[in-house]
Amino acid sequence: MNILGIETSCDETSAAVVTDGRWIHSNVVASSLAQHRKFGGIIPEIASRRQLEYINSVVEQALDESHSSLKNIDAIAVTRSPGLAGSLLVGISFARALACATRKPLVEVDHIHAHLYANFLKKLDATNNAEDPPSLPAVGLVVSGGHSSLFVVRHWPRCLLLGQTRDDAAGEAFDKVAKILDLGYPGGPAIDRLAQQGENSEIRFPCAELPDSFDFSFSGIKTAVLYYVNAHRKEKEFSTEKIAYAFQKSVTQVLIDKCFTVCRKKNIKTLLVGGGVAANSALRKGLTARAQEEMVDVHFPPLQLCLDNAAMIAGLGHHLLHHRAPVRKKRASNLPRAVKRHF
Ligand code: KG4
Ligand code: ZN
Repeated sequence: MNILGIETSCDETSAAVVTDGRWIHSNVVASSLAQHRKFGGIIPEIASRRQLEYINSVVEQALDESHSSLKNIDAIAVTRSPGLAGSLLVGISFARALACATRKPLVEVDHIHAHLYANFLKKLDATNNAEDPPSLPAVGLVVSGGHSSLFVVRHWPRCLLLGQTRDDAAGEAFDKVAKILDLGYPGGPAIDRLAQQGENSEIRFPCAELPDSFDFSFSGIKTAVLYYVNAHRKEKEFSTEKIAYAFQKSVTQVLIDKCFTVCRKKNIKTLLVGGGVAANSALRKGLTARAQEEMVDVHFPPLQLCLDNAAMIAGLGHHLLHHRAPVRKKRASNLPRAVKRHF
């Protein structure tokens, strides 16, 4: 089954063709990120306008690169939520219109669950050879710019939420700390790079552990960094590298500890990690080392599948399609003429 996935939840416009929920034929991503940098964060109005400009050509390119046409597509999957309202609206409207006009089933997919599903995807190569997909049940950690959540996944497409951030998301904390340190936007990659030169920092930033809960809280550590920088700014006696290292160490430690607490409590031996912060080198290293000690099988998507992309939407869409009725299967004859002609 070939699914066309469409993702427009934030500043990326993406379309992908994925077969049987596993094999990526194409995964095209256009981003308006460069246009937001000077503002130090995503401007929703700019993001949604760019979505509108890019979506047609991104979908066309995804079909071209997969050497297919709409005729070979069996269903359409689109990001339903969460995300920026204007950006989501572009993808959802496009996908609904396309599904109506082509009489194909449409499924609407949760963006956060899809980040975990990215671990199940493989790029289609000539040999089609790949190791087995991760086994379920699994504990899932999604850490992105908007979310930090822990799940248990027993069967796709169902993800049971165990805990989430009570304030800032992990990626948001990285971005805000980078702003305090004048490192530009998005801040995660910059902090990741700098932290590698700040090892053995004597600075300590406490990160809330919330020991009786699976929730997270990252706003306190961001404030601790701000106070530290303000206190030392005049004398210029601080090292940005050491601050980056100390901040990153504290955040990743809390994430690592909580993942393995859930694995132990639920007696689960697979851990899936997803979202933009899953690209963080210290998090990947720390989780891998601890997974060996705890005999847990940890999985991260390749770097390009950690960030927002439509392949993960098409992949999870495959399971939604098999487990529940598609949200829409309207006849093209119900559409106004202009819409029919357009497709
Ligand atoms: O999943 P994503 O592409 O978009 C959302 O759904 O939010 O994640 C973007 C977030 C940003 O906050 C960015 O700073 C963070 O992921 N990020 C990183 C790294 N690469 C991206 N955070 C830490 N280390 C990285 N290497
Ligand atoms: Zn995301």
